[in-house]
Amino acid sequence: MEYTNRLQNVAVLGAAGKMGSGILLLTAVEMANLRLKPENKDKAFSLYAVDVSDQALEGLIAYVRKQVTKIAEKSIVSLRKAYEDHKNLVENGEIIDQYVDDVVAIIRPTTRMESAYDATLVFEAVNENPDLKVKLLSQIEENSSNDPWYFTNTSSVPIHSLDERIRLGGRIIGFHFYNPPAVQKLVELIPAKNTLKEVQEFAMQYAKALKKIVVPSNDIAGFIGNGHFMRDALFGIQEAERLAERKGFVRSVYAINKVTQDFLVRPMGIFQLIDYVGIDVVRYILQVMNPHFDENLHSPLLDRLYEMGVTGGQNSDGSQKNGFLKYEKGKPVAAFDPDKQDYVSFDSFKEEEDRILGELPASWSPWKKAVRSTAKDQLFSGYFSDLKKANTTGSELAFRYGRKSRNIALQLVEQGVAHNKEDVNTVLMTGFFHAYGPVNKYFE
Ligand code: CAA
Repeated sequence: MEYTNRLQNVAVLGAAGKMGSGILLLTAVEMANLRLKPENKDKAFSLYAVDVSDQALEGLIAYVRKQVTKIAEKSIVSLRKAYEDHKNLVENGEIIDQYVDDVVAIIRPTTRMESAYDATLVFEAVNENPDLKVKLLSQIEENSSNDPWYFTNTSSVPIHSLDERIRLGGRIIGFHFYNPPAVQKLVELIPAKNTLKEVQEFAMQYAKALKKIVVPSNDIAGFIGNGHFMRDALFGIQEAERLAERKGFVRSVYAINKVTQDFLVRPMGIFQLIDYVGIDVVRYILQVMNPHFDENLHSPLLDRLYEMGVTGGQNSDGSQKNGFLKYEKGKPVAAFDPDKQDYVSFDSFKEEEDRILGELPASWSPWKKAVRSTAKDQLFSGYFSDLKKANTTGSELAFRYGRKSRNIALQLVEQGVAHNKEDVNTVLMTGFFHAYGPVNKYFE
């Protein structure tokens, strides 16, 4: 079966979820683009968006419409060409509306798993629960006569374990997008030892069509992305707990979040990022990873927050839920005190904590500016050298963190998870939108 035929009948499991909605969007656009090619005009394309809630599926279509409109506005020149035979479409707006309708027409939202039985390609983006993944994929296997290929978005479960448990004979590959899939350029590709060659070749072709940067990872729990992120997050928690002995937990969370965002010039501080991914999700991922390593990849604090119902993650409208931090209009404004089981506003201590951390050097640039800079090496060499000289509390914490992040990256190469340090840098820069990779000269 060639590339286009494989993409005529596709299902996304968990399509209304955070990752599933992005995967569905990108796949719908690729399928619509194939559909628009003259040689495919007689072919039918169906994309089953499978999820458990009708309401969430309605939200999904609204999300797709909004995002496809943005995509169409950016590609109006090629769309004009694709629709040149449609003489009734004159204005740009008319072409954009038609394209949005054409993309949405391919999508079949459904709460019935049975719809996935017709698919030749299945994207799996359900909860990070190995048993659930095995159950759903086995159900398709038992009822499908297509020998479908499975692209799992798991970020932690070893692919070979799914292959063996479901007896797929190599028709599965780890195809791991980063959040949000429409924005992050990375796809981490994880073939199991016996993943079929043709599945791997198709995966590369599909990733290229989506204009993604592909980094291969070995099939070891957590792969490169979570191999780094989970240890980085645990270090953040450990640092906050260490500081808490002196200044209390809430102020420590504020300080570490500020250091990891502003001082390290990252898009989000570590506690904001844990909330963005979800405290519950981070905890699941750690549970999957922990048995595979000698280290203790576990945080009792995450268990405690989870048991209190403090989970982070997103509401169905995409807005951020409270977790370690409380959000107003998407911005953190308070931190959670587990003893009081309540949030404490930053206003009550921000000024004092900022003074303790110390000023950022004049050579500092905010992440949004730094990430677009064409002279990043010069910018960061100057900034980190000035930060070191500043010798403030903020500088000391930033260097501790930067060194730890570098060591985690090198550990991933030593453990044989990543093929080389450049791959770890690419994962952090294209999956987590960092402006520089963790293996660098600034934190040697
Ligand atoms: N879908 C589509 N587009 C989205 C989006 C979404 N869900 N969320 C944000 N965007 C778009 C915005 O619309 C905006 O687009 P325009 O520039 O066209 O207006 C753009 O992204 C930037 O967004 P904002 O201006 O609102 O905010 P920002 O500049 O702070 O960027 C961010 C937001 C891209 C999420 C950025 O903060 C970021 O990259 N943060 C780090 C996220 C990260 O680390 N992700 C990886 C998590 S780990 C993971 O995914 C793997 C795992 O297994 C756990």
